[in-house]
Amino acid sequence: MARPATRRPAPRRARTARPAGALLVRSYAKVNLGLEVLGVREDGYHELRTLFQTIDLHDDLVLQPLGPGGGVTVSCDHPQVPSDATNLAARAASDLQRYAGRADGVAIEIRKRIPVGGGLGGGSSNAAAVLLALDRLWKLGLGPAGLHRLAVRLGADVPYFLVGGTALGIARGDEVYALLEQIEARLVVVDAGIHVSTKAVFARVDAGLTHREKSNSIFNFVSRGAEGEGAYRLLSNDLEPAALEEAPDLREKAARIRGVLVRCGARLAALSGSGASYFGLFDAARPAVRAQRSLEAAGFRAHVARTLTVDQYRAAWDRYQVR
Ligand code: C5P
Repeated sequence: MARPATRRPAPRRARTARPAGALLVRSYAKVNLGLEVLGVREDGYHELRTLFQTIDLHDDLVLQPLGPGGGVTVSCDHPQVPSDATNLAARAASDLQRYAGRADGVAIEIRKRIPVGGGLGGGSSNAAAVLLALDRLWKLGLGPAGLHRLAVRLGADVPYFLVGGTALGIARGDEVYALLEQIEARLVVVDAGIHVSTKAVFARVDAGLTHREKSNSIFNFVSRGAEGEGAYRLLSNDLEPAALEEAPDLREKAARIRGVLVRCGARLAALSGSGASYFGLFDAARPAVRAQRSLEAAGFRAHVARTLTVDQYRAAWDRYQVR
């Protein structure tokens, strides 16, 4: 499943309508192919080792420049996403405004497709997309490296979305390294329809944390070139037991979702992040579509997606040129 990174062309630019002078960008979701919790840090966060993967399921963001003194506004078509200064995308814009000493305002419109609160990184991705897009709109020339410090302050998953593709996340998950071996696969992402609080899941992990010195599954997976037969079986998500404790209704749903994914031939069937979205990883489109149909028939919302490599992610961003 791991191949050289550039075989498939980057996804085409979104065709949704946008006002004149505005920038329309895609904000992609991620899954965690594996996630190990190694301990509690002095700052209260957890030391993680995780394998991130971008998928082509995305929100659309429209950024309309408002000119000097225009402020930062945000709107979203999803009722659970705040439309005020607490929205992570609005905070990203305000932080960059301050950092770059810009008076220019921006109106951000978010068209949601990534399930909210599902462990797919939607909010973090929106924030990183705003940083990358405003860097272009305001011609700051900071790039992912120059935006990294701002991203770290916004949230532990935000720095990953400056990089994308198949990447290793360590420390709080905010120290990110793109892997040489990029994974290319189909996925089925399943919205279990349950919201789980990330904070609460981590708190439950603390209650039961045991020493995990032997936890080298992600390194073992990576050192096998992300390829070898059965290597995906090495991966697991340490947050899953805590998420299932936190949301007891999820347990029965998770068993059904996993059952369908595995029966349809998923190489890996796992919880993403702190949940509650599950995903299956497939070698080909046909079994993925079969799994998606079975899950929809069982009453779940399921999306077929494909992975984006780090090169494809970068190429997608390189297309957004501002004249
Ligand atoms: O950084 P972010 O706000 O996205 O994290 C949400 C919550 O997840 C944090 O408040 C923290 O409780 C938990 N977390 C953690 N360790 C990490 C990442 C997140 O404890 N490495």
